[in-house]
This record gives sequence, structure tokens and C-alpha cells, in this order.
Amino acid sequence: MRRIFVIGIGVGDPDHMTVQAIKALNRASVFFIPDKGAEKAALRDLRIAICERFVEKPAYRTVAVEVPQRASSGDYLDGVDEWHGRLADIYGALLERELGEDDVGALLVWGDPTIYDSTLRIVEQMRVKGLALEFEVIPGISSVQVLAARHRIALNQIGEGVLLTTGRKLAEGFPDDADSVVVLLDGVQAFARLADQNLEIFWGAYLGTEHEILRAGKLAHVRDEIAAVRREARERHGWIMDIYLLRRSEREHG
Ligand SMILES: C[S@@+](CC[C@H](N)C(=O)[O-])C[C@H]1O[C@@H](n2cnc3c(N)ncnc32)[C@H](O)[C@@H]1O
Repeated sequence: MRRIFVIGIGVGDPDHMTVQAIKALNRASVFFIPDKGAEKAALRDLRIAICERFVEKPAYRTVAVEVPQRASSGDYLDGVDEWHGRLADIYGALLERELGEDDVGALLVWGDPTIYDSTLRIVEQMRVKGLALEFEVIPGISSVQVLAARHRIALNQIGEGVLLTTGRKLAEGFPDDADSVVVLLDGVQAFARLADQNLEIFWGAYLGTEHEILRAGKLAHVRDEIAAVRREARERHGWIMDIYLLRRSEREHG
């Protein structure tokens, strides 16, 4: 049966690759590399750099996967569902064409495959649609961990929980029952509207890359600076990936 590894590759620094990820890479012979256009060229380049640096057998192949745009109009969840269906068809056809019955393929996933990534849902859909496929998931270092490490902080405060969410959800307000909230995928800078609350922010962009930027402080004090730095960096590079932790200030815990 065809087999694939879904391998977490970290978020920008090839040194994020774990020993387990490198071993899995070396058991595969075909690497499927998503191509999301110019904006994501940096991500594609890292995947290729990882193959060149860590794959020891000379006879491996890379296969480019043309990733279609997700529809931005209509209901969000319906749009995502429809997009996953199309991706499952594209990947399914490529796996059938490019992998022989006993070949092993690899999907190189940004960060960790279990955190805000579609790959595992797409693999599941391929199987539901009838593709005979075995798969194994190799965890990776996530932007969530790199953010905390670079700021040298624990994600949780003592005895409290941590919520992972998106900018879209945070735009509805800071959750009443949350203490520490890590926000990914924030295209709207939802933090900017929360400056009247007693929150601290730990922000990071391009983590793990040579362009990394970090800022931290009371949200009310650093909000405008982060917004300006973010805008300027985005214009300069043509793309940005940023993540932040918002947490209630220690004083509130008494
Ligand atoms: C589709 S999610 C993928 C998350 C990924 N699976 C992970 O484990 O980090 C993309 C979001 O992850 C965050 N992210 C990923 N890489 C990042 C990086 N190098 N620096 C800052 N944020 C990053 C950003 O919030 C970005 O919008």
C-alpha cells in the first residue's frame, strides 16, 4: 500500500528539524512541495533547503503541488470545506500518479501538522474518497513554541490554561474565561482593539528566520509600535507571518 509521512518541519529555521523528522525524510523517496505563489516562496524555499540538507539518498524526487486559492466570499466554514475537498482531489491524483504501490511519500508541513494546518484533514478526505493510503504523523516545532522560547516565557501562568485561537475569533473579543491566548492567522490585527484591557502582549514575526522581529510589553503601550513595525515589514518583504500571546497582567491574579 502507498505510504506517506506527514512531517512537521518547524517554522523557518532548518535547525528546527527533529531527529525523528530527518529519519522519516530519509525513508521517503518522493516529496510533495506545495506552491502557493510568490507570497509563499519563502516557505517553499525552506522545504527545498531541508530536502537538500537532510536527504541523504541522491535519487529522491520533488513534486510541485499547485495549491488553489480558497474562496473568500460566502460562509467561512463552507468555503474551507469546499477548499479541502478540492485539495484532496489534487493531492489524491498526484499521489496516485507519482507514488508506486510500495513507494513512500512525504508531505512537509510548516510547524507542527496538528496546529492550524489542513494537511491531516486533506489526508483523511483522500482516504474517505477511496485512496488506499497509510500515513504517519511526525510532530514538528510549532510557531507557538518558538514564540514562547524566543521571548523566554512559559505559555501558561501558574495553574491557568492556554487557548490557541485565530485573529478571526479574537476579533469577537478577549474570551472572558481565558487567561493566556495565543493568536495565529491574524490578518486583521485583532489585538489592536483590546488596548483598553489590562493585557500584556508577546509578539513575533518571521520567527526562526533571519528577518525575525520580537516585541513585548503592556498592550496599551506597544500596540501602535507593533502595528507600525508589522506594516513596514509586510511592505518590505511582500508577506508576513506573525503570532502573539496575549495574557492578563500578573497583577490581576492578586
Ligand atoms: C496555517 S498556520 C500554520 C501553523 C503551523 N502549523 C505551526 O505549527 O506553527 C499559519 C500561522 O502560523 C503562524 N506562524 C507560522 N510560522 C510562523 C513564523 N515563522 N513566525 C511567526 N508566525 C508564524 C502565523 O500566525 C501564521 O499566520
